[in-house]
Amino acid sequence: MPYLTRRQFTSGLAATPLAFAGSAAGFADDGFIALKASPAKAQLLAQGEKATDVWAYGRTVPGPLLRVRQGERLKVRFINALPMASTIHWHGIRIDNAMDGVAGLTQDPVPPGGRFDYAFTAPDAGTYWYHPHFRTSEQLARGLYGLLIVEEPTPPGFDADLPLAIDDWRLTEDGAIHEASLGAMMDKSHAGRLGNWVTVNGISGPALTLPTNGWVRLRLVNTSNARVLRLKIGTLGGRVIALDGQPVTGTQEDAKILTLAPAQRADIALRVPGEPDTKMELLAMAGDREISIATLATRGPAVQAHPMPQLPPNPLPVLSGLQDARQVELRMAGGARGTMREATHKGQVLTIRELVRAGQAWSFNGISGRTEDPLFRVGRGQTVVVNMINDTAWPHAMHFHGHHVQVIERNGKKVQNAPWRDTELMERGEVVKVAFPAENVGKWMIHCHMLEHQAAGMATWFAVA
Ligand code: C2O
Ligand code: CU
Repeated sequence: MPYLTRRQFTSGLAATPLAFAGSAAGFADDGFIALKASPAKAQLLAQGEKATDVWAYGRTVPGPLLRVRQGERLKVRFINALPMASTIHWHGIRIDNAMDGVAGLTQDPVPPGGRFDYAFTAPDAGTYWYHPHFRTSEQLARGLYGLLIVEEPTPPGFDADLPLAIDDWRLTEDGAIHEASLGAMMDKSHAGRLGNWVTVNGISGPALTLPTNGWVRLRLVNTSNARVLRLKIGTLGGRVIALDGQPVTGTQEDAKILTLAPAQRADIALRVPGEPDTKMELLAMAGDREISIATLATRGPAVQAHPMPQLPPNPLPVLSGLQDARQVELRMAGGARGTMREATHKGQVLTIRELVRAGQAWSFNGISGRTEDPLFRVGRGQTVVVNMINDTAWPHAMHFHGHHVQVIERNGKKVQNAPWRDTELMERGEVVKVAFPAENVGKWMIHCHMLEHQAAGMATWFAVA
């Protein structure tokens, strides 16, 4: 049975009973969870300061935490009470294509006042999230996102589970969403919409509690439009146990600094100190400065020591047949300080000037924006290798829908046993080959998850039949 909770994450410990059905989110008779997107207020600034007008699911930022057990069906009735059309995309889920939520590709946008029933099975346990897939850059910047946790069939035995949605907002001095810069070409052609205010679970600098001496599963999710987070996990003694929902195999080094690109997730197993009232900070690097984005403190009597819980594997397909894989090239160009002179947009070759006038700044293989025809078509079961060439002066967070992919080569060097990811960060100038079995039938996007880059041309799709 899927369930949902509006519990404040900040309690940290599982001591708070899971609350069901809130005012804006609850169960309908037919087992659907109602999830309404609407304008709302959020206390992003410190308590006592101005509340921010946001758009939110279930009137909270993040939206309600959705949980479903692996292999079970999640049924969500999306109700659009926004002044703009929208959809919900279930990021990272190897989902039925019709439920993928991509406006104009897998469904029509849901108009204001409209609704759409999403019902799907989540094949993989792990940490996922949901967000709109229509004018995503604006809608996410206004606060529309939530976390989706797919639980293992048997709980792996952590003493606490702490999902942390880390967001980077661009606010005005009085705490309003900076609307004047929504869709700005300056952001589109540079690093995307970088913010000036960080929240963790919708709160600035929350105080989180951890069970003394226990093992905690931190589920870190970067919900920023464009900010690449660099988190000092090392000082906490954390160990990466899953990336983008998928358990990592083999022994992982303790991550000192964890890089989390927009949309990426990392599950961290954290060994909590044995002394009550020990205080720690979750630190993010801002250039060479460190900023504390949350404080952590041990609380309660020491729980009994036990070994680190292990995550069971997910039923991912096996990567084979690389020799006869379908080879696809994806050359990224454009952006500030780039060499792109022209690109095809909506079927017409435009100069860089004309592209900018059309709100475009980037191209994949010389094409700006999603086209009628896919980048490639493959038969189900075919192994695909995509050679991604970042011929730009900027990093990009390349996201594949409906599939997880594995890096097999980076800058000409073969890579073995890379983690399965749905979003891969590429630094400027990098050339990265990813491979995956195209086992999920349908129409799937590939795009940069720096959402202003996506909006400005970094979007394409492939078809699996
Ligand atoms: Cu998280 Cu196509 O998106
Ligand atoms: Cu990008």
